[in-house]
Amino acid sequence: MNITVIGAGYVGLVSGVCYAELGNQVICVDKDQAKLDILRNGAIPIYEPNLQELSLKNMAAGKLSYTSDLHRAVQLSDIVIIAVGTPSLANGEADLSYIDQAADEIAEAMNGYKIIAVKSTVPVGTNERVRDRIRRLTSERFDSISLPEFLREGSAVQDTLHPDRIVIGADSQSAADTMAKLHAPLTDQIVMTDIRSSEMLKYASNAFLATKISFINEIANICEKVGADVTQVAQGMGYDNRIGHSFLKAGIGYGGSCFPKDTRALIQIAGHVDYEFKLLRAVVEVNQDQRFKMIRKLETIFDGNLQGKTIAIWGLSFKPNTDDVRESPALEIVQHLVNSGAVVKVYDPIAIPNFRRMYGEDGVVWCEGALEAAADADALCLLTEWDEFIHVDLNQLQTVLRKPILIDGRNVFKEEDLAGTAFIYYSIGRPSLNQGVKEEVLALHY
Ligand code: UDX
Repeated sequence: MNITVIGAGYVGLVSGVCYAELGNQVICVDKDQAKLDILRNGAIPIYEPNLQELSLKNMAAGKLSYTSDLHRAVQLSDIVIIAVGTPSLANGEADLSYIDQAADEIAEAMNGYKIIAVKSTVPVGTNERVRDRIRRLTSERFDSISLPEFLREGSAVQDTLHPDRIVIGADSQSAADTMAKLHAPLTDQIVMTDIRSSEMLKYASNAFLATKISFINEIANICEKVGADVTQVAQGMGYDNRIGHSFLKAGIGYGGSCFPKDTRALIQIAGHVDYEFKLLRAVVEVNQDQRFKMIRKLETIFDGNLQGKTIAIWGLSFKPNTDDVRESPALEIVQHLVNSGAVVKVYDPIAIPNFRRMYGEDGVVWCEGALEAAADADALCLLTEWDEFIHVDLNQLQTVLRKPILIDGRNVFKEEDLAGTAFIYYSIGRPSLNQGVKEEVLALHY
């Protein structure tokens, strides 16, 4: 099939590359010339495993191209997929201006029947809004499809080529059948719904996963107070098929480009129809508090005074295997530490450039290695569970730190890993280790 994907951001780029990989003829459209130059040169503007290889391969095979010429791309295609950004407005609502713009430009380019699918995460009713805008500008026939995307960063190609399900929201049987045919090589699990249900399904899925995370984080907070271990609790809960093991990892909360934005947007969507989504409000609030668990632990250790303390930070991206720092807990944690007068030494395997762009330079020491960041620090905070940190030599780490204080915001270390070391170890929702020797350790070297 001939497909145009509008918007070469995370979702658009991965989708376009993967549709080409399936044998379709794909044109990815973006307005950003710098991004197009990168893509045309065979590189990719984001860090995403396997994406560059597949992009190159399909460009070389003549199945994939990148352009800013939306008009021509639409004219050459039977299916147009809108995958532009829907960032949060100040009130949490999704900003639909890029969607509207894409709709208008598609309308102007229409030269015959097309399927117009919206892949961006959009509030219920947006496909109808897109349809209305296009109808006002053209008399050409077309069908609207809601085609939500469920890929995760860091495993986006894998998720796209092996999805749990494909959701197609349609009100035209023939358009739905065409879209089902397009996705048939990917999965047998094709869910057909009406358009509004499909739009809602995407928000509901993300809100539910965010709820699982905030739920287990609250259980973790209670575990700490009653002396239980949240990892054991989650493990046992997960064997119940109705609950499942996934998304029950306690930590410093969720970040990224989807959960924070989509939970806020769903609260707004509910508000517009006079419904207060109380549960989701709590999920967002718990998540906001959770990132400060780190800070509270540090303040407890240092009797509320972080002034002049050297704090090492491991991990800046919102999760491992991505350089994305959008809504990463690290942004607020680092800022808070800097404001508290701490010397903050940070290291991340790949996210430092993005972090610098978003955060600035304010009071941070950038390090090129994990041990370099840890050297002479009074405490080390692990914020992202990169493999590199999980496999660190703890004995060596202990010798470079000024004080062997480790706050593990992602529960990556087990008690047995730390056996034989002198670490004072705090994690999330699990018993601390060696707290008894805290005073002795704090007294060291002062
Ligand atoms: C998410 C959804 O999973 C995906 O379906 C949707 O299309 C986009 O949003 P993504 O943001 O890439 O994907 O990351 P994901 O792996 O879902 O993690 C989101 C956040 O939740 C991360 O900050 C992660 O650290 C956190 N998380 C995840 C937890 O804290 N605990 C968990 O058990 C799982």
